Amino acid sequence: MPQIIDGKATAAAIKAEIAAEVRRMVASGGRRPHLAAVLVGHDGGSETYVKNKVLACEACGFKSTLVRFEDSVSEDELLRCVYSLNTDPDVDGFIVQLPLPRHIDAQRVTEAIDPRKDVDGFHPENVGRMAIGLPCFISATPMGILTLLRRYGIETGGRKCVILGRSNIVGKPMAQLMMQKEHGDATVTVCHSHSATLREECRQADIIIAAIGRPEFVTADMVKPGAVVIDVGTTRVPDSTRKSGYRLCGDVKFDEVAPLCSFITPVPGGVGPMTICSLMENTLLAAKRRSGI
Ligand code: GUN
Repeated sequence: MPQIIDGKATAAAIKAEIAAEVRRMVASGGRRPHLAAVLVGHDGGSETYVKNKVLACEACGFKSTLVRFEDSVSEDELLRCVYSLNTDPDVDGFIVQLPLPRHIDAQRVTEAIDPRKDVDGFHPENVGRMAIGLPCFISATPMGILTLLRRYGIETGGRKCVILGRSNIVGKPMAQLMMQKEHGDATVTVCHSHSATLREECRQADIIIAAIGRPEFVTADMVKPGAVVIDVGTTRVPDSTRKSGYRLCGDVKFDEVAPLCSFITPVPGGVGPMTICSLMENTLLAAKRRSGI
């Protein structure tokens, strides 16, 4: 039987470790780390993410600030908010929740963030530094996956890792990190919606990281017995039996794939909780760097 990777429990353990460190910092006269989040509009998914980020700050003993704008906010107004957070001495790190409304250039907003406060790791300076293995903020989802692999003692060095998806937030950084000697040290193949040999590549993989955004895309016939399967998918599918009216569906057909695996992440409760936990780790790092610890 596979070992189910418990992202919820791992994230809770890490948040408790962070909270203990914050207590030590405060006891020795230091400031509490402070994360700010900027939320534009009322998208259900973004509201939930940001609410969970604020709750995670409380669990870690961080200060948090939520800055809200209506969908109608102008790009200039949003940029002014970014500049003011960049220069606010009390804020260690901040995020602008994506997606943004179509009239706003999200890349321009991302590039306006001071890289030293970019705890999402989305600024090109952090992306570039990550790609060549320099100190930086690593974006939260790939960092959470690396943490899960490490905490579960999963060997990645020299193994064949197939990544499904080439997004800037997950697929690309995940591929960079899995190939780097200091992190995955694996042989990495990236497949996407136009890969002709995607299924064959998957069948040869020791580790599959599915971040393609298509519910139940990875089926049993695509998985080698003993493989490690990491599911990054979080598509909302309608479900009238739920109070919310939907359920989260991963990129992996869990029931048929799980029996084949050595390790597998569930959805929900796998990668998702680790993403927010990694954001907390980045915020702690930002706070330490700013106070020279
Ligand atoms: N939207 C979906 N994931 C993320 C994330 O990790 N950070 C931000 N800022 N927006 C997101």
